[in-house]
Amino acid sequence: MDYPIKISPSILSADFGNLRHDALAAEKNGGCAIHIDIMDGHYVHNFSFGVNIVPALKKHVHIPIVTHLEIDNPDVFIGDFARAESNMVVVQEDTCPHLPYTINAIKEMGVKAGIGINPDRGFEKLEANPEILREIDLLIIMAVYPGYGGQPFSPVTVPKIRRACAMREEAQASFDIGVDGAVNSSTAPDIVRAGANYLIAGSSVFTDNITASMKKLHASAAAALAI
Ligand code: DX5
Ligand code: ZN
Repeated sequence: MDYPIKISPSILSADFGNLRHDALAAEKNGGCAIHIDIMDGHYVHNFSFGVNIVPALKKHVHIPIVTHLEIDNPDVFIGDFARAESNMVVVQEDTCPHLPYTINAIKEMGVKAGIGINPDRGFEKLEANPEILREIDLLIIMAVYPGYGGQPFSPVTVPKIRRACAMREEAQASFDIGVDGAVNSSTAPDIVRAGANYLIAGSSVFTDNITASMKKLHASAAAALAI
């Protein structure tokens, strides 16, 4: 199966005073979805946006909105994000004591589902519940610990991408494999060569020249696959 390269700009690094402008620029330059990190100041030591960011941006952009719940107790908030018409909800697997229940709850609301895995976590929960792999739309290998943009790329990421590809094949599943954190034109080649196709990028995209940054990131990934 062929998985085309997708770039999802993470607005955590956008200009919060000009979110409409930056989100539209991300869309115009080929972003597959707007990635919104929701942070609660508890699971991560930072705050970002609340649920109202979803309708606020949906008024302006037409590409899907993905909400990445970097919060404790995500089960309590899935309904809020579904009603706000988030197109995909991503939960961090370490915040979900009953992961199959959580994924079912998201899908039953007609929303796409994703799972994020931190650098120090393995695939045990997924391997113990392989049926989840045929339910989810996106598996995110976190290349940083959630909380901030602009952190360095964890070296555990590339081997984990390879393992995720093998797991997907074994389960006959078809989710996208994404990387979130420190995705830029230097790290993208190794990321896509290892088999990930869904690049979530904040600080490398929301620069003074979003058009040039998106082109550079896409070109670095495409060139790596062309070799
Ligand atoms: C980290 C977030 C990322 C963040 C990535 O908690 O999940 O989406 O925006 O930022 P960069 O691309 O700057 O590492
Ligand atoms: Zn994120």
